[in-house]
Amino acid sequence: MKQIPQHVAIIMDGNGRWAKKQGFATRVRGHEIGVEALRRAATGAAELGIRYLTVYAFSEENWQRPKAEVDALMNILMTSLSKELPVLQENGIRLHAIGNLDALPSKARRQLDATRKATAGNERMVLTLALSYGSRQEILGAVQQIARQAANGELQPEALTEADIAQALWTHDLPDPELVIRTSGEQRISNFLLWQISYAEFVFLPVLWPDFSKEDLVEALEQYAGRERRLGKTSEQLTA
Ligand code: FPP
Repeated sequence: MKQIPQHVAIIMDGNGRWAKKQGFATRVRGHEIGVEALRRAATGAAELGIRYLTVYAFSEENWQRPKAEVDALMNILMTSLSKELPVLQENGIRLHAIGNLDALPSKARRQLDATRKATAGNERMVLTLALSYGSRQEILGAVQQIARQAANGELQPEALTEADIAQALWTHDLPDPELVIRTSGEQRISNFLLWQISYAEFVFLPVLWPDFSKEDLVEALEQYAGRERRLGKTSEQLTA
């Protein structure tokens, strides 16, 4: 493939519909099988040379789901983090997380910290889980931090740069994604990385997340490679 993005972000959607379609009584089975799809996506991305993969695992808005589903998702998070550690290690994947992580149950938070520590030396790819994540909340936090600095006289408002804003976001140590993939056929952003995706390409795939395969990832990358990323310039300027 002629052009592999450095950073791919995925909105993993369709777990509930998948469970219903398969005849399972609860949506939770879709989330459980969704972990297997995430394993395929992460190992596939690492093999394809993607350096950063960020996945929307639990949104700020997802806290409003029925308690049984929220509890099940938190349990899936905890068990998967320990169960999948060998996969992360074998594939050189460093685990990272962004979001309002303080809102997670303390057991999940501890497990997350342990997995981050255990994989800190891995250099092939960074897998970032967006957990209790909301982009507007992230931007609000950044604005509050910057406003405090301005109020303390540490920063002149006129001197503020885009880089200062990026630095105040949860994603400060990640490059901006060049490609966003959303599964399940829905075509919306759902409060995901609003600042960071300013120049990203979007690929919407009909596949429900639990069915996502490495071939689907390759399909998205092929669509991306076929796009002309002009970034505001003209086509002629790019070829000159
Ligand atoms: C969206 O499908 C998916 C989620 C809200 C959760 C994504 C979680 C995983 C893939 C499993 C890994 C989980 C963690 C926490 C690491 P949906 O439930 O909105 O599906 P629907 O749109 O068909 O109802």
